[in-house]
Formats: sequence, C-alpha cells, structure tokens
Amino acid sequence: MNRWQEQLFELLRFPSISTDSAHKEDVAACAEWLAGKIKEAGLESEVQTTPGHPVVVGKNKHEAGRVNVLLYGHYDVQPVDPLNLWDSPPFEPVEKDGKIWARGSTDNKGQHFAHLCGIAETMEEKGELPVNLTVLLEGEEEIGSPNLRPFLEQNREEFACDVIVVSDTGMVAPGVPTLGYGLRGIACCEFWVHGPARDLHSGVYGGVVANPATVAARLVASLHDEAGRVAVEGFYDDVADLEQWEREMWATVPGVSGADVLKVTGSRELFGEAGFSSAERLWARPTAEVNGIGGGYQGEGSKTVLPAKTQVKLSFRLVPNQKPADILAKVRKHLEKHCPSGVTLEIVDGHYGSAYHTDPNSKYGKAAQEALRKSFGADPVLIREGGSIPIVQDFKEVLGADTLLLGLALPDCQIHSPNENFAVVNFEAGIRMNRILLDELSKTV
Ligand code: BES
Ligand code: ZN
Repeated sequence: MNRWQEQLFELLRFPSISTDSAHKEDVAACAEWLAGKIKEAGLESEVQTTPGHPVVVGKNKHEAGRVNVLLYGHYDVQPVDPLNLWDSPPFEPVEKDGKIWARGSTDNKGQHFAHLCGIAETMEEKGELPVNLTVLLEGEEEIGSPNLRPFLEQNREEFACDVIVVSDTGMVAPGVPTLGYGLRGIACCEFWVHGPARDLHSGVYGGVVANPATVAARLVASLHDEAGRVAVEGFYDDVADLEQWEREMWATVPGVSGADVLKVTGSRELFGEAGFSSAERLWARPTAEVNGIGGGYQGEGSKTVLPAKTQVKLSFRLVPNQKPADILAKVRKHLEKHCPSGVTLEIVDGHYGSAYHTDPNSKYGKAAQEALRKSFGADPVLIREGGSIPIVQDFKEVLGADTLLLGLALPDCQIHSPNENFAVVNFEAGIRMNRILLDELSKTV
C-alpha cells in the first residue's frame, strides 16, 4: 500500500489544471508520467496528441473470446483558487486523518490511479488480466472534453469495447458501495451586459443611465420563479419523468435526505422544486445555476462607480431528454427578451454535454453490483448522479457501449473546492474493486 500511496502522491504533485494555459506543460508531463506507470504495470502505453491536451492510452494483450473493457479517467484538475482557504498547498499532498489532501485527490487522480494499481497487482501476480483492457485517460474533462469525441470518432476501432468502467462519481455515504446508472448533462454560457463607454462616477451619472450590474442582477433573478422552478420558456419541455421504481428505491438510499444535504453543505435551508425529494432534485431534475458574477468595484471599502459592464457565468444541469443546444437557444431567447433596451447584451455559448441514463441491471451492471458487494462487504445502492461527465453519453453514441459508474468520492471530499481530499480506505477499496470487477466482467462472456 505504501508503494501505491507514494506513487499517487507523485501523480498529485503535477499541477495539471486544464483550463489554465500557463499549466500546459504540467498537463503534458502528467500524461507522460501516467503512460510510464501503465508500462511499468506491463501494458503497452503511449501518449497521443489532440488539438488540446494529450490523451494517455494503454492496452494489455487482447485475445479473442474475452470481454473488451474500456477504463476511462481524467488526469486534469480544476483550478485551486481561493488558494488562501487551503490548509496545505494543493499540489503538495499530505496524509492526515485517514485522508489524502490535494487537488485532484478524488477528482479524478486517486480514483483512476486506484484502478491502475489494481491492474499492476494483477499483472504482477498473474502476468495477465482476465479481460481485454484499454485504458483511456484524458486531460480535458474539467473543460468539457472538447477534443475527446472527435478523437474517438477518428479511432473507433482502437476503442471498440463491450463496456466502459469509470470511477469519477460519488458514494452516497462512507462504506455504502454505489453504482451510478445516470449522469446529469450540462450546458454552459456566459453573458455580458455592456452599458456606458467607461466606468462612471455614480453620483454624477447614477440615475440617468442604466447600470449594467443592476440589469445583470435582474436577468439572473429572472431565471427562476418564486417556487424555485427554472422560468426559461420551454425549459422543461423534453424532461423525462422519473420512474416510479427509482423514486421508491431512492427513498431508501442513505446519505441524501434533506438533513444530510444541509449538514454536508453547511446550508440553512433546502432550495428547489416542490414535489421532489432532495435525491430526486439532485439526480433527475434540471437546474439553472450562476457560477460567477462580476462587475464594478470588488475591493475593500467602497468606491462610487457605475460599472461599464458586468459579466455572468451560467450553467444548466440537464436530464434525459433535454438537448443542450436547444436549451442554450432557449436561454438566449429568454435573456434577450428580459433585457431592457438601455444596455447591450452579449451572450457567448460555452461547452455542453448530454445527460446519460442506462439500465443498472444489464449483465455488466449486475457484474458491477457484485464487484461492489464483494469489495465493500455491503449491498450496493443504485443512483443517478447530479454531476456531469459529458463523454459518457458520447461513448454511448460513438462506441455503442454503456458505462458503469463505480464512484469512490465521499460527500465530504470537497471536489472543486479548497481542501479536496480522498479517503485512504477508498483508495484501498478502489484497488480491490478493480481486481474483483475485472474478474466479474470476465464471467459475462
Ligand atoms: N467527477 C466530476 C463529475 C461528478 C462528480 C459526477 C461527482 C458525479 C459526482 C467531473 O470531474 C466534473 O466535475 N465534471 C464537470 C463537467 C463539466 C466541467 C463539463 C461537472 O460536473 O461540472
Ligand atoms: Zn471535476
């Protein structure tokens, strides 16, 4: 275990922030390191370039008559700011209180590296794996995987498979093995409200020209009605209803009650659509969120300025069968309709990906449930996820294969936030799980 943990620490020291061009070399170095580890385990591996960050590919010796498994993960990470809120530097991993603290520890380096360790152990002991395995690790998941779908389309043969394995989602509570059979989709955009030609004295000109920050706030407020529903016209048109068996099953899942959500988020009150439980709101209902808003003076004290412009970053979580491009078009129409005439509105569409939904009781799903049961010594719960991994639906469309989401993230792992952490027991469980899972999958032929 020490050996694997030391290696994970090496992986965590790469500041592989995909969104920040200053870290391009760090992302590339991280890819090379991973390819080296996959080779050390006894598989073939190479780093393949894309128009963006590179992709790491690995393969064991494929033999006819075995199950073809694609293992996917991402080695890029989210930015670290606000840096001052970290208890230890984000790229200097430490172990404390049974957790590994570092950016990327859970999302997603720790989770996919656990699989690589499991593979290395099996190779050491047996000299081969029970399945035909292809490893695919990308460096652009956190920026919406802009180059991975085209890459798959160009290399369909190389990545042809029966089933895909991904550990990049959550467990509902410690010790509760969790199989995900769905993901929300996402559509991002940002808008600028442009007002006067320059920042103005708010006394000299306030009250006679429109304030872009006020307009931006009104536009943001117009996205929801009083009851917490998204107020964009047609937003719910294509939303697939929850199935009754899901509602019943989710009502029994631990860790996702309203009280649990309040506790883990440190919030005072729940928010959202009436008539749905927290789990249902999280996993099967779409949302509109403001991810950032800025304009005017943000520093200490006051400055009497009427800002020339204000920016807002939005994202929408989507569910089956909403279409991301259609949602972005509807949002654009909504913002244009609600924007007063005294300002100029500039809307820029961002990245997007569709929701994913599959049958958790397919033969591969059953194998995954059995692997989770054996790895954690408890019956798995079946959930959909609130987060998004856009490439999963692309896998379905390009490769025709379903994805097993075997999450190892705990509710308090703080992914995308300061003090991200990965429980050591989950790292160990992930290694065990890989070994058991490949065995279980090998029996499905
Ligand atoms: N690992 C997460 C997704 C996730 C987290 C799913 C927890 C379920 C539970 C992934 O790295 C991620 O953050 N995805 C982004 C996608 C986006 C940037 C296109 C997300 O969900 O915001
Ligand atoms: Zn993430």
